[in-house]
Amino acid sequence: MENAKFQFINVSKIFSDKDKKVQTIALEHFNLAAKTGEFICLLGSSGCGKSTALNLMAGFDKPTSGKVLLDGHPIEKPGLDRGVVLQEPTLFPWLTVTENVTFGPRMNNVFPQKYKENARRYIDLVGLKGFEHHYPYELSGGMKQRVAIARAWINEPSVLLMDEPFGALDAQTRLIMQEFLLRVWDTLKTTVLFITHDVDEAIYLSDRIFVMTARPGRIKMEVKIPFSRPRDPETLIFSNAFVEIKHKIVHVIKEETLKTMLEVER
Ligand SMILES: Nc1ncnc2c1ncn2[C@@H]1O[C@H](COP(=O)(O)OP(=O)(O)OP(=O)(O)O)[C@@H](O)[C@H]1O
Ligand SMILES: [Mg+2]
Repeated sequence: MENAKFQFINVSKIFSDKDKKVQTIALEHFNLAAKTGEFICLLGSSGCGKSTALNLMAGFDKPTSGKVLLDGHPIEKPGLDRGVVLQEPTLFPWLTVTENVTFGPRMNNVFPQKYKENARRYIDLVGLKGFEHHYPYELSGGMKQRVAIARAWINEPSVLLMDEPFGALDAQTRLIMQEFLLRVWDTLKTTVLFITHDVDEAIYLSDRIFVMTARPGRIKMEVKIPFSRPRDPETLIFSNAFVEIKHKIVHVIKEETLKTMLEVER
């Protein structure tokens, strides 16, 4: 793709154990390209390589072959240009909410005047006003995840990489966080790569959804989501078009999940 914000070109990722005896081909012929400002979701059965792909884009790991590009350049290491939110919030237990959220800018010697206002804004946005001075052990799982999200947002990254970020949240908080995310995405014009198992969530959020095959993971199906924005989830999920898209996606995921199960049985 010309002018892709980020791109995977024919990427494979093979994990091998210490003695190189057992090899897992997590990704093979994995191709995906996102335009600037696009919201992209990756869906697929458990173990198909979604997190592996996201980790490559985050710079946590290198592909075995193929290219992982950001603004046309190969990714060498993690950077503030990519905000990462993982399934398990990894907060510093000895730092307060505000200190956790401002960790990135403080490490990069940004002036406090510059990040303080933003810290307040993002802490408000994720609904943690009043908890600024609390420590992680004083927060629920969902609250910790929201701290992790504010921490990713404060650097105003050009790419947001989110690996099942709302998986641990209750249904109500999840809906609110989805709305927040779309609002921030719209304001910052961030390009988002979002992983979820929740097909409704993927359709509500995305411009395009990519469904992966079972391992070794590659893209099996691309679905363009035709709904205009802003979207209203409450009416959206009852529309015929929504149900049709959901049906198509669920069918493919089920097919691929069955493949993994049959393989285990053999
Ligand atoms: N660091 C690693 N070392 C060895 N194998 C790994 C490593 N990371 C992932 N794998 C393997 O690669 C495959 C893909 O894993 P990955 O975590 O990307 O799946 P996933 O699609 O994110 O699954 P889930 O939906 O359950 O989170 C799995 O078989 C997993 O065991
Ligand atoms: Mg995963």
